Amino acid sequence: MSKSKRIFPSLLSSDFLKIGEEVAMVEKAGADGIHCDIMDGSFVPNITFGPLVVRKVREATKLPIDVHLMINNPEKYIVEFIKSGADYISIHFENNIHLNRNVNLIKENGAKAGVAINPATPVNFLQDILENIDFVLIMSVNPGFGGQKFIENSYGKIEQLDRIRNEKNYSYEIEIDGGINSQNIKKIIENGVDFAVAGASIFGSVNPAEVLKQMKGIISKL
Ligand code: DX5
Ligand code: ZN
Repeated sequence: MSKSKRIFPSLLSSDFLKIGEEVAMVEKAGADGIHCDIMDGSFVPNITFGPLVVRKVREATKLPIDVHLMINNPEKYIVEFIKSGADYISIHFENNIHLNRNVNLIKENGAKAGVAINPATPVNFLQDILENIDFVLIMSVNPGFGGQKFIENSYGKIEQLDRIRNEKNYSYEIEIDGGINSQNIKKIIENGVDFAVAGASIFGSVNPAEVLKQMKGIISKL
């Protein structure tokens, strides 16, 4: 197995009353990072939590914290999230007019910078930013809610991004988020994804630790 293939459980489907216990449980079961979904009720229809909660997650784990910013005007909050413990920050292509500036802001403050694309946004739109970023986040559902069905055209995007980085010798990693489960994780990783987010398939199951271990077992054989 390539050591770099990883699973980041998404706290969106966890029990917010027991967030520390949920984080500890997935860390013990082999999680490689913790994905935090930040929603503002404007860029996406849902609202979640902010830097104060990320700071609590930071206190609860040594794992990398991956903050997915589904908010308008992310430049107002990037530094605050990094100070609260974020190791990875992704911002969306669709609502960042000054994408290059905001990517630089993330990197200058010491976090890994990613750009996320919605299901209807083509990979080609990223061509002038790919060289500068640490990762691309392919949204395989429309952002806003956990528990949605994986959108199949995401496989083509994974392959395209994998091909471009090989051709151009770029170093970005590929992350995918939305509808990932034990049935599709194999194909997703085989197509070139480095780290996959999984929310409902883990936290919505009867035995989250077992599901995570099962998914880790599948990718460990690849
Ligand atoms: C959706 C979020 C995802 C979400 C994924 O807007 O970005 O991170 O938690 O959840 P599942 O794995 O349930 O699709
Ligand atoms: Zn997310």
